[in-house]
Amino acid sequence: MDRTAVHAAITGWGKCVPPAVLSNTDLETLTQTSDEWITSRTGIKERRISHAETSDMATVAAFQAQAAAGKDPTDLDMVLVATCSPDRLIPSAATMVQHKVGAVNAAAMDLNAACSGFLYGLVMADQMVRSGAFKTILLIGAEKLHYFLDFTDRSTSVLFGDGAGAVIVEATDEAVGLLSFELGTDGSQGEILCAPGTGTEGHVGSGEHPTVKMDGPAIFRRAVDAMGEASIRVIESAGLSPEDVDLLIPHQANVRIIDATARRLKLDPAKVYVNIASYGNTSAATIPIALAEAVDEGRVGPGDLLVFAAFGAGLTWAAVAFRWGHRVEPLGTSDAALEPTDVTALELLQGNVDAYGKGI
Ligand code: UT7
Repeated sequence: MDRTAVHAAITGWGKCVPPAVLSNTDLETLTQTSDEWITSRTGIKERRISHAETSDMATVAAFQAQAAAGKDPTDLDMVLVATCSPDRLIPSAATMVQHKVGAVNAAAMDLNAACSGFLYGLVMADQMVRSGAFKTILLIGAEKLHYFLDFTDRSTSVLFGDGAGAVIVEATDEAVGLLSFELGTDGSQGEILCAPGTGTEGHVGSGEHPTVKMDGPAIFRRAVDAMGEASIRVIESAGLSPEDVDLLIPHQANVRIIDATARRLKLDPAKVYVNIASYGNTSAATIPIALAEAVDEGRVGPGDLLVFAAFGAGLTWAAVAFRWGHRVEPLGTSDAALEPTDVTALELLQGNVDAYGKGI
């Protein structure tokens, strides 16, 4: 094992958003809501509904991240998938990705910290690389949350979407990467965002399909406080101040939470990355999708100071101050893509509607 002190840079990035688009207007046909309400209360205009499984989206994002980093699958020594909606509990989504990308030299595991999962994974990957034990880690956030949506519950069904984002975290001698982090949990409040019956507490043979339950306003208040305060603390513990931040890439759950976080940091809106209008809340996938888009759109410059912040079920929260490396162009691209489909988002949701009915 090489114990050389190293840093861990993000050298590749990629995303996979499935093709079927579910607009707010489509949702008006499923539940008692309106485009006006969803747009003004959340900032969401549309989200994607996947015809493929979580590991398929994760694999496409992984191929793109590998290409951007100029890596061969055999270079990977760890595959981490942050998800709370894996294809199966056994085996993990990460093992499926490991097989599909051909990462024959990699260990693989899932981690579940809900919407904070990608940042928990980024801290784990950073520490694994800096220990000298691992050199090249594929870290993915991937979710197919529509599986858990009940369209009689308008307070949850309009918020979530499907997708995946991936990064390569790689050992480097450059003084870049993670500068400081905060990971937090308050398990005493787990009931305010949960999906009962998704594990062993479900009744054998009951045939019940579990769905997400949420006390939205309670989560909203906690998210605003946690994301704002944790962001300030990680910036301070990196010896920096909010004026040094080049780009805040927050979890995309509600544009009002994002705006409140930015206000706490007194950040110019131009320094905040927001794509919630297009994808809604893809849980562990929001930050890596946003990061991939931010880099591809030229919003991340060499040596930029990035701040990531997230909040989710658990309750869990996370913030990371991160110094980007010198390279902002991908070394290569991949033509990996999901199987093409003509099935519409509303058709893909027919199973959910058959199980629970519509909320109108
Ligand atoms: O990723 C982490 C997990 N999730 C989050 O971070 C989500 C955090 N919470 C939120 O984003 C917001 O609390 C929501 C978007 C979920 C709800 O927004 P809100 O401004 O907190 O609304 P509310 O729950 O206080 O509801 C206000 C009204 C209620 O009607 P009445 O009682 O005032 O007549 C709701 O029934 O809006 C109603 N409402 C809706 N109306 C139309 C709730 N959902 C909808 C809807 N369409 N989809």
